[in-house]
Amino acid sequence: MSSIRTATKLDRDKIREVHLHAFSEDEAQVVATLASNLLSDETSPETFALVAEIDGTVVGHIAFSPVTFDTSQKLKGYILAPLAVTPNYQKRRIGAQLIQIGIEQLSKKGVNVLFVYGDPKYYGKFGFKAETATHYLPPYELQYPFGWLAIVMNEAGAAEQPLKVSCVASLSDPELW
Ligand SMILES: CC(C)(COP(=O)(O)OP(=O)(O)OC[C@H]1O[C@@H](n2cnc3c(N)ncnc32)[C@H](O)[C@@H]1OP(=O)(O)O)[C@@H](O)C(=O)NCCC(=O)NCCS
Repeated sequence: MSSIRTATKLDRDKIREVHLHAFSEDEAQVVATLASNLLSDETSPETFALVAEIDGTVVGHIAFSPVTFDTSQKLKGYILAPLAVTPNYQKRRIGAQLIQIGIEQLSKKGVNVLFVYGDPKYYGKFGFKAETATHYLPPYELQYPFGWLAIVMNEAGAAEQPLKVSCVASLSDPELW
């Protein structure tokens, strides 16, 4: 059984290792660097990360960072990125635990909507929907538009026009999208 805790900057190298092993060679460095950069992003509200440990070894990581909207100051949004579980420990619900605990924490903070840019087959299991995300424009043009997904945690008034989403410095790179 894995235990989940908040990540700190001391976990940086272990977190990098998880991503370097989990992602394919062409993506691994970029995602590991993103995970590392997010640990240093000083944002308000806070960027935070969770790690999953088994016998003291970090085997999973997930990060959540705040987003802003062009015309709404009231709406609170976050984005989930990145997420990885070390290959030998996959398919044991570690990814699911990291997502679910993250969603619980964000929900308690009063966050209205959580975005992710990823595989709808995986994230759909946790309630993320492309339909929900159509009310929000991603920060950059997407290579895979079907991967723009969102989940509403605390209902807020729907905007008439889609709201443009902006994200933290570490994610503000068109190459990541
Ligand atoms: C994607 C990833 C984080 C999943 O972690 P995991 O701990 O193996 O996932 P879980 O065991 O929690 O799986 C939860 C559910 O998703 C399913 N699932 C797991 N990987 C999946 C995938 N790649 N596609 C679709 N479904 C998947 C599981 O079968 C399980 O389904 P169930 O609830 O019906 O039993 C892990 O495979 C990984 O690190 N992959 C490489 C990096 C990556 O792709 N990250 C995500 C970027 S979008």
